[in-house]
Amino acid sequence: MNKLKRAQATEISHEEAKRQGQIIERLKERLKGQSLTYFITTFGCQMNAHDSEKLKGILERIGYTEAETEDVADFVVYNTCAVRENAENRVYGRIGHLKSIKKKKPNMMIALCGCMMQQPTVITKLKESYRHIDIVFGTHNLYKMAELLETRLDTKSPVYDIWEAHKEIIEDLPSIRKYSFKAAVNIMFGCNNFCTYCIVPYVRGRERSRMPVDIVNEIKGLVADGVVEIMLLGQNVNSYGQNLEDKTSFAQLLQMIAKIDGLERIRFMTPHPKDLSDELIEVIATEPKVCDYLHLPVQSGSTKLLKAMNRRYTKEDYLTLLKKIKARIPHIALTTDIIVGFPGEDDQDIEDTLEVIRAAEYSSAFTFIYSKRTGTPAANMENQVPEALTKERFNKVLDLVNEMSYKASSSHVGGTYKVLVEEVNEKKEGMMSGRLEDHTLVHFQGTPDLIGTIIDVHVTDSMSYYVVGEIVK
Ligand code: 5AD
Ligand code: SF4
Repeated sequence: MNKLKRAQATEISHEEAKRQGQIIERLKERLKGQSLTYFITTFGCQMNAHDSEKLKGILERIGYTEAETEDVADFVVYNTCAVRENAENRVYGRIGHLKSIKKKKPNMMIALCGCMMQQPTVITKLKESYRHIDIVFGTHNLYKMAELLETRLDTKSPVYDIWEAHKEIIEDLPSIRKYSFKAAVNIMFGCNNFCTYCIVPYVRGRERSRMPVDIVNEIKGLVADGVVEIMLLGQNVNSYGQNLEDKTSFAQLLQMIAKIDGLERIRFMTPHPKDLSDELIEVIATEPKVCDYLHLPVQSGSTKLLKAMNRRYTKEDYLTLLKKIKARIPHIALTTDIIVGFPGEDDQDIEDTLEVIRAAEYSSAFTFIYSKRTGTPAANMENQVPEALTKERFNKVLDLVNEMSYKASSSHVGGTYKVLVEEVNEKKEGMMSGRLEDHTLVHFQGTPDLIGTIIDVHVTDSMSYYVVGEIVK
């Protein structure tokens, strides 16, 4: 895209945001005095969680307030996930249940959005068997929710609006943050990697990056609003900037963001091991605001399976990368994603995965049972693994992951760390919870006025998934 076109694209997206703003104002006027409430349920990843914050922002600007429970809400939204089948089944179960509630509350509005809606088979099923759904939209047009609601009110019939691909990135969306002191920021959308098990490239489209200036401005605004920690989101942050004219790299973007005064901590997810650059390792090592923490999905330790998964690295490549990272940043915390039960998996493949887990000493790992996704290459592979065998292997992997987690959390005992205080610990009176720079969860005695501040905590004890400490006065 040349400079002029880029400027025009930004102009169009601001224009579109303005148009949506006008629709929001119209709806606000139209629905005034009705004390309407909403309830959003989010399935899946942080990207979806952040999208839901944008949906909340739109609804609250219209005048909706959050309901205590779904059953009493006037506007119910499911922001869905398509990565694994059980999340999809949960959505069908819940919208089935809503049918009887809607019978008693005919004005209840039900909206479905997110990754599941990008699959044509899902849309066919909804249109045929779930006629009580009011509004359906996908991942590329969530910014239009107010417009779709207006259309639904005008036409009094269900509104389906699914785009196969994105048009432009819409900036300036309102958003309601869960926490006042930390926020998620999209830096790019989509994925070009086509791992053979994964539905994401089909439902989120091709990679496109937001411009650095838009990202930096958004973060400056958040910091002015009290945010001290940001989480940068993208399916593969290493390829940030490749579709931009000036090809700003992810490492360069991090450096630009680190210059923002008042911002204390920068996190990001997810980098892909195949193209994690030395430049990025250097920025994590040298830039104090960039947390010494890396979520580096391995998926499998077996070169044979990695090839079948189209991950484009071998076990040895991953082990070499681990060595390089640990040599440069000795205290870095590593976490990962692992899939068990991929087609063709045998006992040796699991041994390879266990070997990588031992070498990485992950502080935690998300372990998933492979879920067959229609439309992905792996769904048609031979040698799908029987469920019982997968469960057995899954438990083996989980046992080692737990052992490593405990080892990682124990390594903090006796040390003093900077902690961002996040919330009151609801389980133990007088206790607060926060996160170390490496994302370890810590509980300590304290008061709610500390929330959002960074304090020193001396760690005295450790459990598998958290540590316990005392504030250093
Ligand atoms: N089955 C199981 N896990 C999956 N993931 C992605 N697709 C599938 C699938 N079909 C996991 C990967 C990815 C994480 C977000 O979800 O581990 O890193
Ligand atoms: Fe899915 Fe692979 Fe893209 Fe991650 S990198 S979103 S696992 S296709």
